[in-house]
This record gives sequence, structure tokens and C-alpha cells, in this order.
Amino acid sequence: MAKQGPRHAGRTLFHEVFGSAPDVGASAPGRVNLLGEHTDYNGGPVLPIALDRRTVVHARAARSFRFASALEPGVVERRMDEGPHGHWTDYLVGVVRQLVAMGCDIPGADLSVASDVPAGAGLSSSAALTVGAAAALAQLARRRLAPAQLVEVAWRAESEYVGVRCGRMDQTIAVFGRRGMALALETATGQRRMVPFPGSVRLLDSGLRHALVAGEYGHRRIECEEALRRCRRFMPELATLADVPPTALARIGRLLPRTLGRRVRHVVTETTRVREGVDALRRGRRTRFGELLYAGHASLRRDFESSCEEADAIVALARKSGATGARLTGAGWGGVVIILAPERSSNAVVERIQAGFARRFGRIPQVWESRAGGGVRIER
Ligand code: GLA
Repeated sequence: MAKQGPRHAGRTLFHEVFGSAPDVGASAPGRVNLLGEHTDYNGGPVLPIALDRRTVVHARAARSFRFASALEPGVVERRMDEGPHGHWTDYLVGVVRQLVAMGCDIPGADLSVASDVPAGAGLSSSAALTVGAAAALAQLARRRLAPAQLVEVAWRAESEYVGVRCGRMDQTIAVFGRRGMALALETATGQRRMVPFPGSVRLLDSGLRHALVAGEYGHRRIECEEALRRCRRFMPELATLADVPPTALARIGRLLPRTLGRRVRHVVTETTRVREGVDALRRGRRTRFGELLYAGHASLRRDFESSCEEADAIVALARKSGATGARLTGAGWGGVVIILAPERSSNAVVERIQAGFARRFGRIPQVWESRAGGGVRIER
């Protein structure tokens, strides 16, 4: 599939499985977050780019719902009136149910999925799937959805039906991504600004996979909610955790339980880092931007405690190997480390990191390269 690309693979798959050409098609990208981790459900800013890797969804009208993926043989038939099965097709059922709730007429669909977004690596293959599916199925129902509606359908499918209490960062960048641009999104207001992000990033896989639904992610959200409740006792005007002024951190450190105090410190310092990062990118200050990534990682490791040994090792090796910046990206507890390095030396930097990692962990971590790519689009 890698050679042909998911667009071609998707059409071929549809033909093979369903015996005809699809009526409609759409695709959406995975994402990597440059800065602003665990801020999107705390009212803070985020700074993701869309990957130049995409998930392609093809569909045609049918009487029932049958789903096929390039990753497994056969088709899966699903009913829309059942609860989630813990299967990847839950994301599609979630999307159909949201579209129907909005008044779209979708009595059934044959639908195929092909993708070159690595699944489960923290690159948001799930938002690529829900956004791509929402765009394809809306087209099938002859319904024009505004971009913000697409975000909402995809986000609700994941948070309400699949049951992952995620923020809106992944769905927003999958819809609004632009080539060569990062998206500065203020999650409290929904304000979006595009910031030039030329060049490419390297993504090193820690090899560890996280269980988002039941795991630590949900636990951190509960801690953040509890921290906000406690902060409001002496700052009743506080709307979100990201609104805590940095000058209040010392007091919070004294008044809140230690762990909660650290969670707040991460959210508050990360909020500042994103704003400084946007400024650094606008001024072309790559070195400064890289330092903010390193600082962001230290904060995830120490204060949010969402890192892992493998990611910490990659970041330490990155610094030693001359990378401009490095940071664990996405939900955490595994997944991918983003590496920034000058274009001319990035191959050498990555090789040095891989060699150091192999010496310690006995395996060579996988690496992907990506530029900032475009958001959702219709595929003819
Ligand atoms: C996951 C969620 C996002 C965001 C990140 C952490 O990717 O889907 O909404 O919370 O974790 O920044």
C-alpha cells in the first residue's frame, strides 16, 4: 500500500470487497501536536500540524451497513442501534449515528477504509477515520456540512459513542489542516490561526502502545477537574485551568495536594509555552521553538507524569545528538516522540538516536518523516 498510497489502495479494496466502484470518497489526515499537550480539555491552546499521511474512506449507498478495512480480510456488518463492540468499526457506527441525529438520511452504506496513518502510535488515526468517514457519508446523504460541523460529528462519535473523553484538538486539525502550516487553536474560544511551519519533522516510535479509553488519560482528566474545583475555592472567577495566572502557581503549590499542584503547573506552563512557541515560529526562531519542546517534555515527565522510559530516553538522546527540539507528543504513556533538527543534519541525528536506543533497549525504533499536510478533502 505504501507505494500506491491509500487513495488508490482504497478504491481497489472497495472494488474487491463490494464488487463495484464507490459512489463517494473522502480522506482526512493524522496529526502530530507540536506543543500544547493535555491543554485542549483544560481550556488552553494547542499547536498541531496535520500529517501528510491520510485515511481514505470510500462508500456507496446500501440497505445495511458493511465495513471493510485494508488491514483485515472480509467485511463487518454492523447495526446502528447497538452499543460499541470494542472494535475499530465502532468509530464508523458513532459517525453514522451522529449524522442521523443531525437529520441525514443514511439507510445503509458499504464502506471501505485504507490508510497510511500508523494506528495506535499517538498520531490520531481515529480522528482521521471519523473525519474522513463523516465527510464521505455526508456526501452520500447529499448533505453539505460546514467544517465546524464535521469537527463536531467526529468528536461526538468518539467521545459519546466510542467513549474516549478526548478534547477537540485531533478532529479540528484533521478538518482545518493546511500544507506548510501549523494550527494555533485556542480551545476555550475556538479561535484558529495558521502559523507557517515549513520543513519536516521526524517521528520516532517508542514502540509502546497506550490504552486511551480506560487508562491514565481519563484519570488525568479527573485530576484536572478536581484541581480546578480546588483552585476555585480561592479564585472563584476561574473559568478553566489554563486561566490560572503563572503568578498563582506558588500559592497553588502550597494549598493543593502535591500531585494536583503538579498537574496545574504543567497546564499553566504548557499554555505559556504554546503562546511563546507561536511567536517563535512567526519570527523564524527555530532554536527557541526547539527549546520549548524540550521544556514541554520535561513538564510531561515531571509534572504531568504522562511520559515513559522509552520516550525519556529518546528525548535525552535527541539532545545529545544535536536535535533542535524533541518531545513526546499525543496522549502519552507511549506513542511517538517528535524530533526537530536542521534539514541537512536530520538523517544523522535520527541515526544517532536510533543507535543509542538500540544499545539500551535492544531494538531499533521505527521512524517516519512528515511535513505539515492538508485537512479533510473529497476524493473523486
Ligand atoms: C489525545 C486526545 C486529545 C488531547 C491529547 C493530549 O490525543 O485525543 O484531545 O487531549 O490526547 O494533548
